[in-house]
Amino acid sequence: MIKQAIIPLAGQGTRLLPLTSVFAKELLPINGKPGIEYIIDECIDAGIKEIIFIISKKKEIIRDYFYNDKFYQKIIKKKKDPRILKEYKKILKYRKMIRFVYQNKPLGTGDAVLKTSKYIKDKFFLMILPDDLIINNNCSKSMIKIYNRYKSSVMASMNVNKKTVSRWGIFKLKKKIDKNNFLIDSVVEKPSIKNTPSNKAVIGRYILPKKIFLKLKKQKPGKGGEIHITDSIQSLIKENEKFVGHNFRGKYLDCGTMDGYINSSKEISKT
Ligand code: G1P
Repeated sequence: MIKQAIIPLAGQGTRLLPLTSVFAKELLPINGKPGIEYIIDECIDAGIKEIIFIISKKKEIIRDYFYNDKFYQKIIKKKKDPRILKEYKKILKYRKMIRFVYQNKPLGTGDAVLKTSKYIKDKFFLMILPDDLIINNNCSKSMIKIYNRYKSSVMASMNVNKKTVSRWGIFKLKKKIDKNNFLIDSVVEKPSIKNTPSNKAVIGRYILPKKIFLKLKKQKPGKGGEIHITDSIQSLIKENEKFVGHNFRGKYLDCGTMDGYINSSKEISKT
């Protein structure tokens, strides 16, 4: 069973500066609802019971969002507005399942994952990157089904324009398993167009084995001097750990850039 999810939220959000110099991008509203709530809802609907948020001191606004009781209690007493009460109850429901851990130095996604190591209970867990929204289909839920079938790690995949491969982790395919799933031969972080093994990109949904922590502990910085989860995944694949790539249904929205962020509200308003 996959019961725990982790969400790296300590990123600096440089692609959304100047906004992110004072605000956490994950709280920005997308069609009126903070981006992070879409991710939490996806987890709940997929049967996740505990979510670990990896934040930093600079992003404590995210923690504050879930722990602003005095403010709510005062306003609810004064205004008696059912909408506010409903929102407060929702936040209380969310926070029951959230645990916060800290990554104060921006050393990369791999380093963020490592901060959760002592809290992961089962052999496998889910990781969601908060910039990557997927609508019209619960990608995490589909991936958990695949995990249940193959008892292996799973990563979400999408074909991208070959010109953009240096923006993504890219898969080399070993063999197709069925219409939407394939065995991964290797994965490389942000290759050049010249050296890319394919145009199949890693999208931010991963079911990872607990043993990834052993690799992360020894992981050297890679592309851009960061510790990448992709590099530790590749080490596991090399040791014959099975990873399945899943071509998800649903629409991908990249909320980590300004254009993508603006577009995501438009797309969600159509649903
Ligand atoms: C991260 C991963 C990359 C993946 C991407 C998906 O990159 O390192 O492998 O393809 O997310 O959004 P980042 O967006 O942090 O540059």
